[in-house]
Amino acid sequence: MSLVINVNGRDHTVDAAPETPLLYVLRGDLALNGAKFGCGLGQCGACTVQVDGKAAYSCLLPVSAVVGRRVRTVEGLGTVEAPGVLQAAFETEQAAQCGYCIAGMIMRAQALLDANPRPTEAEIRAHMQPNLCRCGTHMRILRAVRRAAGLPVETA
Ligand code: FES
Ligand code: FES
Repeated sequence: MSLVINVNGRDHTVDAAPETPLLYVLRGDLALNGAKFGCGLGQCGACTVQVDGKAAYSCLLPVSAVVGRRVRTVEGLGTVEAPGVLQAAFETEQAAQCGYCIAGMIMRAQALLDANPRPTEAEIRAHMQPNLCRCGTHMRILRAVRRAAGLPVETA
């Protein structure tokens, strides 16, 4: 069926069964390939996007559930030439190894900074906890989030 979804500030008409995971529509229909399929079970965070500002697992969310809501993906934050604040911080901190988790990490962090621009270290760690990095770059990811938040990058 035909559905209109708003992604990165633009309305898109997509032809999809209502129960199709948002992730499949983003990647397959809109060519927004930042969000990744990791587990498909809400357990890794590789597919994280923002829905109405909050972090959401796009692998679990039926596309019909985001009609009338605002979806934001990593592509909406900036470009290679003009990266967003978090994207630039992840690059500066060389937070990516294989990169598979990074779009999800950035979008989860964006949801935190949108709601709480100056989080504490404990708040950053608690918020980022659901997203996994199989390469083990968590410490660099945390540095990048601190950098984007304007906090001291080094902590104890
Ligand atoms: S792919 Fe969605 S949480 Fe793992
Ligand atoms: S950089 Fe490889 S999974 Fe995180």
